[in-house]
Amino acid sequence: MIIHAFLIFSILVSAAVAGEGATSTYVPTDVFFFNCGETSDQVDISGRNWKAEERKILPSNAADASFPSRASFQGSGVSQVPYMTARIFRHDFTYGFPVSPGWKFLRLYFYPTRYGSDFDLAVNSYFSVTVNGFTLLKNFSADLTAKASNDAFTIKEFIVPVSTGHTILNLTFTPSLNMLAFVNGIEIVSLPDQFYSNGGFDGKITPVGIPDFGIDNRTAFETVHRLNTGGQMIDGVNDTGMFRQWLADEEYLLSVNSGAVPNITDLKINYTENTPVYVAPEDVYSTCRTMGNFDNPRLNLNFNLTWLFPVDAGFNYLVRLHFCETLREVNGPGQRVFTIFIGNKVAKFDMDVIQLSGGSLIPVYLDFGVFVGLESGPRTDLRLDLHPYTDVTPKFYDAILNGVEILKLSFPDGNLAGPNPNPNPTSGVTPNSVKQDIQKGKGKSHVLVIILVTVGFAIVLAMFVVVLVIVMKRRKNKKKVTIDTKSKPTDSWTTLPLVAGSSSHTRSTTSLPSDLCRRFSILEIKSATNNFEKKLIVGVGGFGPVYKGRIDGGATLVAVKRLDISSNQGVNEFEAELKMLSMLRHIHLVSLVGYCDDENEMVLVYEYMPHGTLRDHLYKRNKVFDPPLSWKRRLEICIGAARGLQYLHTGAKEMIIHRDIKTTNILLDDNYVAKVSDFGLSKVGLTSSSQTHVSTVVKGSFGYLDPEYYRRQALTEKSDVYSFGVVLFEVLCCRPVKLENVTREETDLIRWVKSNYKKGTVDQIVDEDLTTEITPLSLEKFCEIAVRCVQDRGIERPSMNDVVWALEFALQLHEAAKSKNAVDSLYLPRRDEVGLTTDGDNDLFSKTTGRMSKSVTSDDDSARLAGHEKSGSSWGVFSEIHDPKAR
Ligand SMILES: *[C@@H]1O[C@H](CO)[C@@H](O)[C@H](O)[C@H]1NC(C)=O
Ligand SMILES: *[C@@H]1O[C@H](CO)[C@@H](O)[C@H](O)[C@H]1NC(C)=O
Ligand SMILES: *[C@@H]1O[C@H](CO)[C@@H](O)[C@H](O)[C@H]1NC(C)=O
Ligand SMILES: *[C@@H]1O[C@H](CO)[C@@H](O)[C@H](O)[C@H]1NC(C)=O
Ligand SMILES: *[C@@H]1O[C@H](CO)[C@@H](O)[C@H](O)[C@H]1NC(C)=O
Ligand SMILES: *[C@@H]1O[C@H](CO)[C@@H](O)[C@H](O)[C@H]1NC(C)=O
Ligand SMILES: *[C@@H]1O[C@H](CO)[C@@H](O)[C@H](O)[C@H]1NC(C)=O
Repeated sequence: MIIHAFLIFSILVSAAVAGEGATSTYVPTDVFFFNCGETSDQVDISGRNWKAEERKILPSNAADASFPSRASFQGSGVSQVPYMTARIFRHDFTYGFPVSPGWKFLRLYFYPTRYGSDFDLAVNSYFSVTVNGFTLLKNFSADLTAKASNDAFTIKEFIVPVSTGHTILNLTFTPSLNMLAFVNGIEIVSLPDQFYSNGGFDGKITPVGIPDFGIDNRTAFETVHRLNTGGQMIDGVNDTGMFRQWLADEEYLLSVNSGAVPNITDLKINYTENTPVYVAPEDVYSTCRTMGNFDNPRLNLNFNLTWLFPVDAGFNYLVRLHFCETLREVNGPGQRVFTIFIGNKVAKFDMDVIQLSGGSLIPVYLDFGVFVGLESGPRTDLRLDLHPYTDVTPKFYDAILNGVEILKLSFPDGNLAGPNPNPNPTSGVTPNSVKQDIQKGKGKSHVLVIILVTVGFAIVLAMFVVVLVIVMKRRKNKKKVTIDTKSKPTDSWTTLPLVAGSSSHTRSTTSLPSDLCRRFSILEIKSATNNFEKKLIVGVGGFGPVYKGRIDGGATLVAVKRLDISSNQGVNEFEAELKMLSMLRHIHLVSLVGYCDDENEMVLVYEYMPHGTLRDHLYKRNKVFDPPLSWKRRLEICIGAARGLQYLHTGAKEMIIHRDIKTTNILLDDNYVAKVSDFGLSKVGLTSSSQTHVSTVVKGSFGYLDPEYYRRQALTEKSDVYSFGVVLFEVLCCRPVKLENVTREETDLIRWVKSNYKKGTVDQIVDEDLTTEITPLSLEKFCEIAVRCVQDRGIERPSMNDVVWALEFALQLHEAAKSKNAVDSLYLPRRDEVGLTTDGDNDLFSKTTGRMSKSVTSDDDSARLAGHEKSGSSWGVFSEIHDPKAR
C-alpha cells in the first residue's frame, strides 16, 4: 500500500519535473479518492489510494440518513476498490468536502447490484445529485446507465466551479420517492485555473452556428466524450495529473476503418507555453487519425473523415480538438489544410496545423462552442467532419485529428441532468415466458430431419436429373435474356424517355415494352389502394410509402410503391429501379408487376411479400406472433439472397452492382423464399473483362458501406459482397449493425464479430434463440465465409459464387450433424441444394454446379478426414452436446 501511494506521488512529481518553466505539468492542489462505506484505506488496481470516509466529510445525521454496505456479488470486470462497498442513503445526505477555490473534477463511481441481503440497488435506486447549486443528476438510475453501456458499473465525470467565498463542495444525494440513493466512490481532483473556460491554445472559443458562446465562472460541465483519436485508451493514472481517461475512437467513426492511423513511434512532443504539458498526454499528440490514401490523395476530396458523438439534446457543448503534425512529410505551412465541420456547420475553413503551431511535433488545441437542438429527440448524434480545403492548393489533400473532448455545459439555472438512457433500444431481447413458448415450438422442427441419401446410385440419378433440368431451363432463359437486353441496351439509360423528363413527370407514352412490364393507369392504382388509404401502408421506403394493394379485381395482392413527389432525388432512383427490374427476372429478385406514370404520380407495383423484410424476422420481429427463424431457415434465406446477388453479378449480360444490400432490402415471400429488392442505387456497368471498377459518387447505407469503396470511390461487385457479409453477421447475432448504449467493443457489429472470431468465441455472441440448435461445424463454415466477405480489401473477399457455395455447405453440415447416422453422407450435395427447387437462375447455375462439384471433391477429402476423426468417441460427444434431442 505504501509502495502504491508512493507510486502515485512519484507519478505526479515526475510529471512535474519533466516539464521546464512554462511547459511544466500540473500538480493538482486537491486530490481525494473516497471509498464510500469503507472503514480503512485501500489501493485500487491502477495504484490509486482510496481513503475511508473521514468523519469530517460526513454530515451530523449520517447514521440516520445512511448506512454503509457491501455488495453481495462481484460482477466480471468489477474491481474490488472502490466498487465492492457503498454508502446507501435513505434520506437527503450531504457530504462536505473542503477544497480550494477553482474548478474541480468530480467523479462519481456507481456499481448497481444487490447489497447486503436486502438491498437490490439495481431495482430500488433512483436519485438526484446536486453540488453547490448545480443539479448533476436527476431521477438517475445507475442500473439503466450501466446497462446501456453494457457495463456492470458506471462513472460520471463533472467539472464544478468553487468560488473563493465557498471553499466547500456540498455534495447532496436525494433518493426519489420510496427509493434509495447510493455511491461507491467519490473522486475530487482540481484542474488548472480556467482550463476549460479560457478557450484553446489561442485563448478563443469559436461559436459554431450560434452568435456567441461564453463560459463564465458559474458554469459546470459534464464530460461526455474524451478520445485519443487514432491511439489507444489512456487510463487515468497515465493522464497528466488530472486522472482523465482517454478512450480510443474507432467506435465513433461514421464508417468502420475510415481514415488511416500512421505508424509512428518514439516521438518527442515539443510542448509550448500556449500548449503546456498538462493539456493532453504525449500519447494523445503522437497518435492521430488522417484520411490516408497517400498514394492518391485526390480521392480524399470525395469524402469526409467523420465521427458521431451521442449527446443529450437541448444543451450547449464545448468541443475541444487537439492537433499535432507528426508526419515527417508535412513540415511547412500550406501543406495539409482542411475544413472542420461541427454539427454540419463550418467551424474552421482552413485549418493548417503547422501554420498555427509553428512546426512539426508542436501541439495546439482549439475550442468550439455549439448548441445541440432538440429537433431529433432528447438524444442525438453530434457530428464532426473533416474535409480537405481546396481554395489553396495544399501539398496533401488530407486532414488530421489527434484528440477530442466534448463537454456538456450547465444551464444558467445550474442544471446538467439529462434523461436516463434506454438500455435496450433495439436489441431483440425476448421476455422469458415468450422465449419458452417459442422453444417448445422449435422442438417440432427438429423432428423434420432430412435423411440424406447415402447410396451412390441415388446420387448419380439426382445429378442426372439436375443436368437435365439445367439444360432445359437454360434454353428457356436464354431466350428471355436476349429479348431483355436487346429491347433496352443497358448502357443507354439516359436515352429512355422516362429519364429524359424526370423533372416534369407528365408523359403520355413510354418505351417500356408491355410484355416486360405492365403499365397501370392512376385510376387502377387508386382503386387498388383505396385511393392510397393510410391504413394500407406497409412500409416507408427511401422515396415514399409502400401500400398493400389488390389488382385484377382483387385477385392479386401487390405492393405499391408511391414516389413522394417532394423528394427530388427519389425520381432518379425510382427510374433506375424501374429500368433495372423490368429487365431482370429471377426467383431471388423481387419481381416488378408494373408501373404507373400518370398525373404527376410515379408508382411501382411489385409482387407482394407477405413475410416482409428479413430484418422484421430478426431483431425487429413481433415477439409474440413471429417465432425466431431457425438456423436452417436462416441459412436458406441467406442462400436465396446470395443467389439473387450472384445472378446480378454474373448471370446477366452485364454485371449489375446492387449497391444497397441490407436486411431491409431482402424480402420474404409466403414460403420464406428470399428476394433481393430495391434497385434504386444499382449500377450496370462492367463487362467482366473491360474495366475493373466503376467510378461513382459513394452511395449506400450507413453500416453496410464497403470501406474500400468509401475510401477509393471505386465501385466493384465486391462492395455488394461486403454488405452481404454484414447481413450474414446480422442474421447470426440478431442485432443491428450499430448499437448505441453498449460497450465500445460491441457497438459496431462488424468489429464485434471479427474480434470474437479471432478469439474463437463467436459461439458466445450468436443469437440466443439459436444457441441450442446451431451446430458447431456449420457455425464455423458460416463465420468463415462471413468474415471473408468483410475483408478490408475487395480482392480478398470471395465472389458471390463462393459465398453461395459456402453457405450451401454450411447448410449441409448443419443437416448432417442433425441426423446422427448420416455422417457418411455428410458431404454429398442434396437435391435441392444443387438447385432442383430453383428456377430461372440457370445461367449462373451451371457455374455453381461446376464450382460446386470441384470444391466438393477438394474440400471433401479434408472434411472427410475430419469427419472420420470425429466419428469415434469425440464425434458422439459433439453431436450430443449440440443436438438437444440427445440430451
Ligand atoms: C454547504 O453546507 C454548509 C452547511 O450546511 C453551509 O454552511 C454552506 O454554506 C454550504 N456551502 C455551499 C457552497 O453551498
Ligand atoms: C424516473 O426514470 C424512470 C426511468 O427512466 C421513469 O420511468 C420514471 O418515470 C422517472 N420518474 C420521474 C419522477 O421522472
Ligand atoms: C473568474 O475567475 C477568475 C479567477 O479564477 C477571475 O480572474 C475572473 O475575474 C472571474 N471572472 C468573473 C466574470 O467573475
Ligand atoms: C500507463 O503507462 C505505462 C507506460 O506506458 C503502462 O505500462 C501502463 O500499463 C499504463 N497504465 C495503465 C493503467 O494503463
Ligand atoms: C510499424 O512500425 C514498427 C516499427 O517501426 C514495425 O515493426 C511495424 O511492422 C510497423 N507496422 C506497420 C503496419 O507498418
Ligand atoms: C520546439 O519548438 C520551438 C518553437 O516553438 C523551437 O524553437 C524548438 O527548437 C523546438 N524544440 C525541439 C526540440 O524541436
Ligand atoms: C462533409 O461534411 C459537411 C458537413 O457535415 C457536408 O456538408 C459535406 O457535404 C460533407 N462532404 C462530403 C464529401 O461528404
